[in-house]
Amino acid sequence: MSKAGSGNRMWGGRFATGPDAVMEEINASIDFDRKLYAQDIAGSMAHARMLTKQGIISKQDAKQICAGLDTILSEIEAGKFEFSRALEDIHMNIEARLKKLIGEPAGRLHTARSRNDQVATDFRLWVKQMMTGLSASVSSLMKVLVEKADNHADTIMPGFTHLQSAQPVTFGHHCLAYVEMLARDKSRVDDAIKRMDECPLGAAALAGTGFAIDREMVAKELGFSKPTRNSLDSVSDRDFALDMLSAASICATHLSRLAEEIVIWSTPQFNFITLSDAFSTGSSIMPQKKNPDAAELIRAKTGRINGSLVGLLTVLKGLPLSYSKDMQEDKEAVFDAVTSLEVCLAAMTGLISDMRINADAMHKAAGSGHATATDLADWLVRELNMPFREAHHVTGRVVALAEKHACSLEDLTLDQMQSVHDGITNAVYDVLSVEKSVASRTSFGGTAPKNVRKQVRYWQRQIAKMG
Ligand code: ARG
Repeated sequence: MSKAGSGNRMWGGRFATGPDAVMEEINASIDFDRKLYAQDIAGSMAHARMLTKQGIISKQDAKQICAGLDTILSEIEAGKFEFSRALEDIHMNIEARLKKLIGEPAGRLHTARSRNDQVATDFRLWVKQMMTGLSASVSSLMKVLVEKADNHADTIMPGFTHLQSAQPVTFGHHCLAYVEMLARDKSRVDDAIKRMDECPLGAAALAGTGFAIDREMVAKELGFSKPTRNSLDSVSDRDFALDMLSAASICATHLSRLAEEIVIWSTPQFNFITLSDAFSTGSSIMPQKKNPDAAELIRAKTGRINGSLVGLLTVLKGLPLSYSKDMQEDKEAVFDAVTSLEVCLAAMTGLISDMRINADAMHKAAGSGHATATDLADWLVRELNMPFREAHHVTGRVVALAEKHACSLEDLTLDQMQSVHDGITNAVYDVLSVEKSVASRTSFGGTAPKNVRKQVRYWQRQIAKMG
């Protein structure tokens, strides 16, 4: 097999020949970890400033190192940097370029540092930043759902269990159910950000260093609240990535459930909502079609986000302490999950804010399937002091009668009702409409429009605090 050439290898002293081409192929991570360039440069600058403050390298060297790193940052941002696979990863690509730019002082930057603590730091910084963005995107989606809930606190729809009409609810209440889920998602993200707020730089390869470094200083410079406490853990911990992926998977799973409802609601058979043209697609053969592709893709992308979580858990599960190269496989899963979840959140926010609610179709469906049967049973308990189990039975017989006459509960005559139970009076008709049914559900957390309005105000205050 062909040899890739010894090239500009950092460990040239020990090695007589360069790696096999396949070795380079399996080993190189530059194609994806170049994403970490800004974090890598920030980490190196903080490290250089600390080394000089501690008298480990000269002021002059640190100055040249930081100036060189600044040049590299502009080169990368201008698309002028030449990334090399022979240099494996972002850390060595940057260091090699620094050497070309400033010569000897570049070789002093790696004092009291290893790529092991370097990559742990870069990746943590990146994940932390991305999670701050995700947290804001979750808030934006919460906001549009709360707006919908506000506009539809009185809009009646069927509430389902087993996807069978169960009891009428309001569409506003349904929207707020997702707001609750998203608020928990956001708190998981925010919680993970707090947990990953420790800086691994200075753990060096695995055991720490004999140089008198100042880890507090580096941590502060990089925006971490403190340094990590154990050098072995510092280079082998990827919990922050798992935290991110598990929070992302749960959030995506919530989005997927909502996406599934959007797919169902937008069918001509349900017709509960109409999606905007901006968030649907047509068919190349069937002119009548308007497809909910965005919702379907949100549902599907959840698969890959969940897959990333399982993938990284599996990579890590057998690793002895401390660093193993397996850990290089942590990045693509996380990069992909962040990109996927961000686009899902943005698409869902657009879908929801644009969609039209077909209140008449919802109302009609809410009244079908004897959805107020529980209200009848509750009335028998309240007015006739019947035990609930007996009321359930009597109501079942009234429902059977309505089925026989192919009419709704409200359409049965009082005589027909009394043929089932002679205690029933005209007053029963007061509770059989879907409006009365939802208005009566005033228990805390219930669907009554006045509850929904109260909850909308609660969430508006919470969202205002999120800034
Ligand atoms: N590219 C490597 C990674 O992403 C950097 C750390 C390499 N460390 C080592 N001991 N080979 O994990």
